[in-house]
Amino acid sequence: MADFTAFGFVKWLHLLSLAMGGGAMMVILVLVGLEESRPDLQGLTSLLWKRTAAWGLRVAVLAGIVLLSMRLRAGDHPFDAKYLHWKLALVLLLLLCSEMSARSLARSKRGLPLLAFMFFLLVTFVSVNHEAFGMVHRHLTTGSALSGAVEQGSDSGN
Ligand code: HEM
Repeated sequence: MADFTAFGFVKWLHLLSLAMGGGAMMVILVLVGLEESRPDLQGLTSLLWKRTAAWGLRVAVLAGIVLLSMRLRAGDHPFDAKYLHWKLALVLLLLLCSEMSARSLARSKRGLPLLAFMFFLLVTFVSVNHEAFGMVHRHLTTGSALSGAVEQGSDSGN
């Protein structure tokens, strides 16, 4: 029988909300142009960002934090993977841009939502290609310190 796990369920929620947030961002960025030529549509993109893109991201970040804490509680060392450090820094920038985008769209400015979308693409790229970033050399450092001590010992012996 299929073996469903809580981790798998939360990961599905993480990806689903990302699809919702990222998809909404793309549609909104297309609609910005339309909004400029149609005064009756003024305020539409700002409202859409507030209700869809911003919420999709918030739920994704929440689910991400739950995933991370589940791995930590299971005794795993997720921070040994270098990509996670980059990812969390980029997520912070993405969240900042996203939270300010609705107000920016209400003033017909599209710089921040475009920047948010760029950070969104970067975070997904880093997450999917995480293996390329390698690991923090925790054990290697211990190893080299030990070998340093051994070398010192042999030096004093001479
Ligand atoms: C505080 C925020 C976040 C945290 C702590 C977080 C953490 C995680 C964790 C623990 C996983 C599961 C990795 C595994 O299978 O072991 C994951 C998967 C993933 N996350 Fe996030 N995430 C966050 C936000 C985001 C955001 C904002 C995006 C995209 C814009 C994103 C994109 C992805 C993708 C694409 C995967 C699937 C990667 C794969 O398994 O190949 N995450 N995330």
